[in-house]
Amino acid sequence: MSRNYRLLVKNAKQVVLICNNGEKFMTKHEILNLCVIENGSIVIGSDGLITAVGPAETIRDQFAGATFDKVIDATGMCVLPGLVDAHTHPVWAGDRVHEFAMKLAGASYMDVHRAGGGIHFTVEHTRAAGPPELLSSLSSRLLRMQRAGTTLVECKSGYGLDLHTELKMLQVIEEARNTLPINISSTYCGAHAVPKGKTVEEATEDILQVQLPRLKEQMSAGTLRVDNIDVFCEEGVFDLSSTRRILQAGKDLGLNINFHGDELHPMNSAQLGAELGASAISHLEEVTDQGIAAMATARTAAVLLPTTAYILSDFNPNAYCCSMPIVMHLACVNMRMSMPEALAAATINAAYALGCSHTHGSLEVNKHGDLLVLNTTRWEHLIYQLGGHQELIRYVIIKGNIV
Ligand code: NIG
Ligand code: FE
Repeated sequence: MSRNYRLLVKNAKQVVLICNNGEKFMTKHEILNLCVIENGSIVIGSDGLITAVGPAETIRDQFAGATFDKVIDATGMCVLPGLVDAHTHPVWAGDRVHEFAMKLAGASYMDVHRAGGGIHFTVEHTRAAGPPELLSSLSSRLLRMQRAGTTLVECKSGYGLDLHTELKMLQVIEEARNTLPINISSTYCGAHAVPKGKTVEEATEDILQVQLPRLKEQMSAGTLRVDNIDVFCEEGVFDLSSTRRILQAGKDLGLNINFHGDELHPMNSAQLGAELGASAISHLEEVTDQGIAAMATARTAAVLLPTTAYILSDFNPNAYCCSMPIVMHLACVNMRMSMPEALAAATINAAYALGCSHTHGSLEVNKHGDLLVLNTTRWEHLIYQLGGHQELIRYVIIKGNIV
């Protein structure tokens, strides 16, 4: 082949494909085989998509006359798909470090919330912040995630709880999507909490009558791209019937349903999500066996958040962790996942939760050329080593470009 390609990564000790048969997601049984090529190479085309992946000798023969913008000799290194973070709240202003001290002294998440802290504290500061400030802090947080190996990230709004601030947050996410290399799936989370001074009914009506119609206008005008709708379905936040109405209205706008459920109390969120055809439900610490069965039948992904179980939350001001390798480590130690399960959960299955597993989450021809090159001969080091990943992750590559 005498064409030009964007990138060749050659002679890697291990290339972890995750899967190689166009699977949308992987089950526990399938994860037993992560499709690891010993001594492999991968080629990314000028469109940023994977052109070929296979044994180093096969690729060398197949691309004998080709030229590449960049060649990485990965001898003694490992190649893996870029990591996918399926749940983050990364747009906010205001510092909640003081709450960590409160929690260490015994306060629960809901104690802090009821005392007017938590989400309410962040809402107050985010409402007051201008878009440039929000964009700049969002960009540095996303950059930290990218350095820790994340190449596709879900980003929620939800610290506005009013039309103006929710749109401001979504626009900031849109701006990040247009300016940063990291892939973003964006989520409208106007039902993240009931705003101070409003009842659940009033908040629900505001979302249905005011916020969603304006979102629809902006989406149709092409000024805003939103992928998912989220609600915090919880006692003292949004009950099951308000959650149903909001999620259904989002679905009617073409958004994927991807919401917080069964986190602190069993709410039958899993059954509701399954019934509405949700792509994913997050948290699920209190899910029932019936809920799990309903989700399995509906093929609704469970987004488990080991940092939540650790300190109650995913990446947000309440749990400041930008690192998916640390999240995978916690999943193995505290949730008893195997390393292959944790890796599949942080790649192909997280991409499935975002409705992106046809384009992301594994190293397969025609998928995005998003990958990591690790300075180690065994991929498991990405999970085994706790922290310090800047040294371990030699390259982060998005669409064939080193970022
Ligand atoms: O993912 N559960 C609700 N929302 C977040 C917490 C957000 C916050 O405390 O600011 C979560 O846990
Ligand atoms: Fe959350």
